[in-house]
Amino acid sequence: MTAEGHEARKRLRSQDWFDNPDSPGMTALYVERYLNWGLTRDELQSGRPIIGIAQTGSDLTPCNRHHLELAHRVREGIREMGGIAFEFPVHPIQETGKRPTAALDRNLAYLGLVEVLYGYPLDGVVLTTGCDKTTPACLMAAATVNLPAIVLSGGPMLNGWFKGERTGSGTIIWKARELLAAGEIDAAGFVELVASSAPSPGHCNTMGTASTMNSLAEALGMSLPGSAAIPAPHRDRGRVAYLTGKRIVEMVWDDLKPSDILTRAAFENAIVVNSAIGGSTNAPIHINAIARHVGVGLDVADWEAVGHRVPLLVDLQPAGRFLGEEYHRAGGVPAVVNELMRHGLIQEDALTVNGRTIGANCRDTVSEDAEVIRSFDDPLVQDAGFIVLTGNLFESAIMKTSVIDDDFRKRYLSDPEQPNVFEGRAVVFEGPEDYHDRIDDPSLEIDESTILFTRGNGPLGYPGSAEVVNMQPPAALIKRGVHSLPCVGDGRQSGTSGSPSILNASPEAAAGGGLALLRTGDRVRIDLDAGTADMLVPDEQLAERRATLRDTPFPVPESQTPWQEIQRSMVGQLSDGMVLEPAVVYQRIVQTK
Ligand code: FES
Ligand code: MG
Repeated sequence: MTAEGHEARKRLRSQDWFDNPDSPGMTALYVERYLNWGLTRDELQSGRPIIGIAQTGSDLTPCNRHHLELAHRVREGIREMGGIAFEFPVHPIQETGKRPTAALDRNLAYLGLVEVLYGYPLDGVVLTTGCDKTTPACLMAAATVNLPAIVLSGGPMLNGWFKGERTGSGTIIWKARELLAAGEIDAAGFVELVASSAPSPGHCNTMGTASTMNSLAEALGMSLPGSAAIPAPHRDRGRVAYLTGKRIVEMVWDDLKPSDILTRAAFENAIVVNSAIGGSTNAPIHINAIARHVGVGLDVADWEAVGHRVPLLVDLQPAGRFLGEEYHRAGGVPAVVNELMRHGLIQEDALTVNGRTIGANCRDTVSEDAEVIRSFDDPLVQDAGFIVLTGNLFESAIMKTSVIDDDFRKRYLSDPEQPNVFEGRAVVFEGPEDYHDRIDDPSLEIDESTILFTRGNGPLGYPGSAEVVNMQPPAALIKRGVHSLPCVGDGRQSGTSGSPSILNASPEAAAGGGLALLRTGDRVRIDLDAGTADMLVPDEQLAERRATLRDTPFPVPESQTPWQEIQRSMVGQLSDGMVLEPAVVYQRIVQTK
């Protein structure tokens, strides 16, 4: 439909700026400066929807840089439907480039985007997403402001190859580190191997946090069906950019808002899909954050309750073998959703951005490659979701039990009496620098029965929360064939790592969580069946340690930038989405008409 067809029945939000008969003076002021680069009064004042393109791509953000090109096709789609495109920058968040951690910038980009969406004459917005935190930052802002919004992901890179084998972005780093530690490659070989995994524009081609969050944006109903998995360089990527531009104009006329789509049912669908795709352990943090900003009750326990029993259907690295190109060719998110739907695991009535339900969108898409997107009856593993652990170490932490490999199972979980319980001696590191300094120190007496702990890595401690929980054993152990030890921590772990760590522990040590009381040498017992993780230290001793902590609080490094300090003063814990707590009360702040 064209703008003319709707004119009679709907006044647009942007007209309060550009065409407001009650305030001709202000209207003149608003219009005059937007004319200065060649727009006409007709474009601004004839009741055409003004559509923002929230641009996350830049030279600083290679994973999303492709959006600078895609935006041309988005504009054409917007124009085709009678809208006017206003492209603007979003604070960059490059996972691999930002110090001390890109996670620090998610909430900053969120705040900036909220301010733009609220304060400028926009009727709807296309959210360009890709690299890990860009997707949640954009969705969180859209949830808060509640302006019609649609996600356009940039798509994964083409598959990486090295000497005839697939190299997946991020995942290859873990292998390269082991090869380096074992002396099988040198520093130049390290770069060559790792760079082979990034052969084209796009975000990570593994099922890391980027592919996870873009798949989940689609599962939530916030992007066009089938769009998340299209590799960045494919022609379909430009096609879907065009269709996304067209669709957002219709969404404005239909007043289809994030709050209509982001319902409890949609979030439960996202949790189920996350298990089936082998999604990142960062997903609960980001999805819970989006839910909190749109006002839907969702917490970390829901991830086990809704997601744990779902099988892993997608054979992508790091859990499996393949990469983004195969995922797309096999049918992407709709094929996964359809397979889950056939077994009653998807709430089919959940509405999506195209105005149809997720059930209607996905019902006819079957897997084109049963090796890559497997059938429900022949999954890669059963129970692929997270379990949530609790105890005197923390109130909650998550673990992806499905990535526990045979070697690990044999070493730690093979007691016939209690097969899912392991006990060990804790070795505690105060964050990643301390770990790197001391991991090879023989006086720590790290052996096969050690459990590695890292603390001081949460939203307050690091700050922003670091992806550091999966720690490699000392070189001496690796040379003896021990490639992993159980790891526990109050930070995060890269979605491209397949380690079965216990992570996202909340509250973190810096917030007075139980981890702050742990000492090297303590015995720790982890019971995966009961969902518990405890230091085997008498309560009186723990009380004494707690008292010491009151006198000398857990050390937190000084903030290096103003934002670090500001965020630390108001950020919540990982289990609650690591959001800016005062922001949560601001919900649905734009009343569209
Ligand atoms: Fe940007 Fe993985 S580093 S998507
Ligand atoms: Mg990451």
